[in-house]
Amino acid sequence: MTDKKYRTLEDMDLTGRRVLLRVDINVPLVEGKVRDTTRIRRIAPTVRRILAAGGRPVLLAHLGRPKGRRDEAFSLAPLVPVLRSVLGVPVHFAPDCLGEKAERAAAALAPGHVLLLENTRFHAGEEANAPSLARSMARLGDIYCNDAFAAAHRAHASTEGLAHVLPACAGDLMDSELNALGGALTTAQRPLVALVGGAKISTKLDLLGHLIGKVDSLVIGGAMANSFLMAQGHAVGCSLVEAELLPTASGIIEAAAAQNCALVLPCDIVVAPRLAARAPCRVLPVEGCPAEQMILDAGPQSLRQIKEIFQNSATLIWNGPLGAFEYPPFDAATTAAAQHAAYLTRAGRLVSVAGGGDTIAALNVAGVADDFSYISTAGGAFLEWMEGKELPGVAALHRGPA
Ligand code: 3PG
Repeated sequence: MTDKKYRTLEDMDLTGRRVLLRVDINVPLVEGKVRDTTRIRRIAPTVRRILAAGGRPVLLAHLGRPKGRRDEAFSLAPLVPVLRSVLGVPVHFAPDCLGEKAERAAAALAPGHVLLLENTRFHAGEEANAPSLARSMARLGDIYCNDAFAAAHRAHASTEGLAHVLPACAGDLMDSELNALGGALTTAQRPLVALVGGAKISTKLDLLGHLIGKVDSLVIGGAMANSFLMAQGHAVGCSLVEAELLPTASGIIEAAAAQNCALVLPCDIVVAPRLAARAPCRVLPVEGCPAEQMILDAGPQSLRQIKEIFQNSATLIWNGPLGAFEYPPFDAATTAAAQHAAYLTRAGRLVSVAGGGDTIAALNVAGVADDFSYISTAGGAFLEWMEGKELPGVAALHRGPA
């Protein structure tokens, strides 16, 4: 038995058992084809471990937001060939996550084979966390294993409810996310810097409020920095701002100062007349944004400052880009900062943790996703974890029946 707050696969006898394995394979599908297989590849070690221990994995998952009814556009069926090729074993598919057909398929599952069940969100009881749905799904397994950290911020029947019905444990990916992320914020080597970027303060308010009490430096980038610059009295031209949040931004600036957290905003800016790839741009001091221009990236001096902070830090937590990285050349600051973080990580001088869909895309553009110490598969769950919130899918594992 490990000394963790939750059981892991190591603590379970898997031989011959059907393991109801909740995974997050909510991957982008374009015209029925999986566009990014990261989340599928990241659950493979858990599935392999269950198979190696003689267990029979029955995969439960959601895809998209089908609003509680069957909608073929959100079927998990197109993922079957990808799962087969990633796992290298036969993968069967049941057209529902409960009922007779699914029960027969789970009972007939041969050793070394995997069963994928249809989208849990085809049932309204999933998002309502209906105990009756959890009980129906529980008939398909002997053990519940939650490997879906990326969906752990949802208290749904398959992410939370099931942990109260079957003997429950965390899968390898869930365990590694919790180890990596738990360590990064609570027992991190100091100094600790967080970089938070993206378009809107409104979506990251709780996050910013929580971080200033936890980190030594907080770098703010992306369009959300504009509202802070405006709150400091700078003109921001026609940049994206959340004018109604200026008092909030001022409050965060004051709270950071009171808590000895160095709040880092751009000291120079890259501006252009419109948001478009290769729009004509120039670098200006932060005081100098003309009325008809918008801020689309942090300038070279800001970048130097950010690199220096990384250099003087032991741990970095990164969520969100520094500029409009989808529109080159406004990806320059994000790419250069990411490359510097990767270099310091490779040199053993920085522990770097990143999460969130945009962030991973930006690190991929920079070509450094493999060089970070840890990349979380989670988007919303990563943010809620950074906000210090308890994730219901994780909390339920703490209390699962023996
Ligand atoms: C994600 O992609 O972040 C998770 O799968 C959760 O999806 P949701 O936001 O639709 O609940």
